Amino acid sequence: MSITAQPPPPADKTLNILSVIGSSRNEESWTYKVQAIIEEKMNAIRPTVFDYVFIEKVALPFCDGCLHCVTVGEHSCPDFAKVGPIATKMDAADGIVLASPVRTYAVTGLMKNFCEYFMYKRNRPSFFGKKAVVCATASGGGHENVMEFLEGTASAWGCDVVTRLAISSSQMWKEHYIKLVHEHAEDVAQIFVSAIEEGELGSPRFRHLMNFRGMQNMTSNQKDSVNYNYWEERGWLNTEYYTDVPINPIARLAAGHISKKMRKATRKGNSKPIR
Ligand SMILES: Cc1cc2nc3c(=O)[nH]c(=O)nc-3n(C[C@H](O)[C@H](O)[C@H](O)COP(=O)(O)O)c2cc1C
Repeated sequence: MSITAQPPPPADKTLNILSVIGSSRNEESWTYKVQAIIEEKMNAIRPTVFDYVFIEKVALPFCDGCLHCVTVGEHSCPDFAKVGPIATKMDAADGIVLASPVRTYAVTGLMKNFCEYFMYKRNRPSFFGKKAVVCATASGGGHENVMEFLEGTASAWGCDVVTRLAISSSQMWKEHYIKLVHEHAEDVAQIFVSAIEEGELGSPRFRHLMNFRGMQNMTSNQKDSVNYNYWEERGWLNTEYYTDVPINPIARLAAGHISKKMRKATRKGNSKPIR
C-alpha cells in the first residue's frame, strides 16, 4: 500500500489546528498564551481556528500500561471514551501543535501521560503529511529536552514536524523579549501555513530512519499480531521507510548498517549495548 500525504486543504478552507496544552495551568499558562499568539499570527495569513485540548481538563487517569492499545487495538484502551475523541480530532486537523512547559528539565507529567495513551500510534503511525509544530516554555532551561521529546513523539506518529518555538517565561515582562516572541511566532505561523498548503510528504532525517528500523525490527518479530498485520498490509516489513520519499543517501546507508547490527543482536539474544 503506497502511503500518500494528507491532501492540502482547499484554498478557501479555514485551517483547523489542534493544539495540545500540557500545562496544568490551562488558560493561565504561558504555554497556552504562546499558542494564542501563534493562532493570531496564522489568522493574519489565512483564516485559522485553533481547537485547544487542555490535557488537565480531559482528566485522563494515569495510563495503566495494559498495552491493549498496542496488542489488541486502540479501541481496547480502558480510557478510550476520553482518548478516542482526541485521536479523531487529531486525525481531522490540518495541523497539530504539541506544547508543554518544562518541569524538572522534562515535559510535564500531564504531557507524558497523554503521549503514553498514544503509544499505539508509534507502532501504527498514520499521520503522514500532517504538519506539526512543537513548543516549550520554561523559566530558563530545558527547552531542548522538551522539544526533542515532543518532536520525536509527533514524528513517530507520522507527522512532519516543520518548526519549533521555545520561550523563557521569566523574560516575558521585558518589552523587547515580548517583541522577539511575536517575531518568532510570526515565523512559525508562516512556516506552518506554507507547509500545510504545500502538503508534501517530508523527507526523513537519520533519527527518523533509525526509529523506523527499530520499529521494523520489533514488528517483524511479532508475526500475526495487530502491529504485524498493519505493517504487512502497508508493505513496511521490507521497505526503507514508511513513505516513498527521497532519502539522504548517507543517512540511508548509516541506518541500514546500524539496523543490520541491531537485527543480529536481537537474533542472538544479545543484551549488550550496541557500540
Ligand atoms: C515543578 C516545576 C518544575 C519546573 N522545572 C523547570 C525547569 O526544569 N527548568 C525551567 O527553566 N523552568 C522550570 N519550571 C518553571 C516553568 O517551566 C515555567 O514557569 C513555565 O513558564 C511554566 O509554564 P506554564 O505557565 O505554561 O505552566 C518548573 C516549574 C515547576 C512548577
